Amino acid sequence: MDRMAFYTSPLLGLLSFFLLLSATATPTPTTSSSGGIRLGIIRKPTPYVPIFREAPAFRNGESCNDNRMHVTMTLDANYLRGTMAAVLSMLQHSMCPENVEFHFLCTRFEPDVEASIKSTFPYLKFKVYRFDSNRVRGKISKSIRQALDQPLNYARIYLADIIPADVKRVIYLDSDLVLVDDIAKLWEVDLEGKVLAAPEYCQANFTKYFSNLFWSDKSLAKTFDGRKPCYFNTGVMVVDVDKWRQGRYTQRVEEWMVVQKQKRLYLLGSLPPFLLVLAGNIKGVDHRWNQHGLGGDNIEGRCRSLHPGPISLLHWSGKGKPWLRLDSRKPCTVDYLWAPYDLYNPYQIGWNGLDSWD
Ligand SMILES: *[C@@H]1O[C@H](CO)[C@@H](O)[C@H](O)[C@H]1NC(C)=O
Repeated sequence: MDRMAFYTSPLLGLLSFFLLLSATATPTPTTSSSGGIRLGIIRKPTPYVPIFREAPAFRNGESCNDNRMHVTMTLDANYLRGTMAAVLSMLQHSMCPENVEFHFLCTRFEPDVEASIKSTFPYLKFKVYRFDSNRVRGKISKSIRQALDQPLNYARIYLADIIPADVKRVIYLDSDLVLVDDIAKLWEVDLEGKVLAAPEYCQANFTKYFSNLFWSDKSLAKTFDGRKPCYFNTGVMVVDVDKWRQGRYTQRVEEWMVVQKQKRLYLLGSLPPFLLVLAGNIKGVDHRWNQHGLGGDNIEGRCRSLHPGPISLLHWSGKGKPWLRLDSRKPCTVDYLWAPYDLYNPYQIGWNGLDSWD
C-alpha cells in the first residue's frame, strides 16, 4: 500500500543483514562489523552496503530527442538492493535510457551508498539530495507498521522543495518495484491540469482508510465534499512539480499530519494525508502502472498473486520484500519476477577478500 519500500523494521534489517552475511560466506571489506551487529542501533540503518555487479551501459535509440525524464526515489543502505533493481529495470526497458535522470533523496549522506550507485551504474545521471528529517519531526504518528514511520517515507511530500526549481515534472517511485515497460509512456501522461497522476482504485472501499472518528466528525469529513475520492497508491506518482509548488501542496499535506497528531484519523503512514488532499482530484492512469501489493499484507506479508491484466510495473508494497524472501529461500512465486533485476552479487570477492580471510 504505502511506501513500504525503504525501511524494514530494525529486526528485519538485522535479519537481512545476517541473511546477506551468511549468503556471502566470505566477509568482504564492505561488511564492516563495526556497527552492523551492535544491538541497540535502531535509529540508524546498518552501515552495511552490499556489493553489486556493474550494470551494462544502456544507450539511447536513434529516435531519441534530448528531453529529460526526471525520476525521484529515496535512498538508504537498507533498501539499496531494491533501488538498484528498480533503476536497472527502468534503463533496460527504456528506448531512451540516457534521458532518464535520477534524483535520490536521503536523510543523511552515506558516501558508501552513493559510491555504490556510481560503481554499479557508471553512466547513470543522478544527484543525491538531503531531506532534512527535522521537517517531519513531531508530525509522524505511529502507524500499523513501524517501517512506515521512518522520516524518509515522508520525503515525497517535500520533493518539490528539494529537487531543482527547473524540474517541472517528476515521477516519484518507491524502491520495492520494477518496471517492465518503457518509463517514457508514464512520463508522457497528459495530466489534464491536475497536479498528480497515478492509478486510481475506485472499487476499493475508501472508508476503511480513515477512522470512525474522522467520518463522524462533519467538519473533517466534509473535506471530501464535491469530490469522488478513490484510493491511489503513493508509490508511483507523476507530479506536476510547478503546480505542486504553486498550490502549496506540501503545506496542505502537512496540515493534515498535524491534525492526525491530535486526533487519530487514520492508521497508515504518509499515504492518508495524500488521500485527504488529493483523492478524487487526480488524473487516473492505467492500472498496469502499479501492480501493487505484491509484498502481501501489512502484518504477515503473505504471498499474493497477480491481478489480471497487462503489467508495466510490479510493486512489492506490503510487508514482504522479494530480496528478503528470496534470500530466505521461501520466496513467493511473484518474487521470481523481481529476481532477474537483482544486481546483488554475494559471490563477488572484494579486492582483498580472500587474502584477509586466508
Ligand atoms: C466499507 O468499510 C466500512 C468500514 O470498514 C464498512 O463499514 C462498510 O460496510 C464497507 N462498505 C462496503 C461497501 O463494503
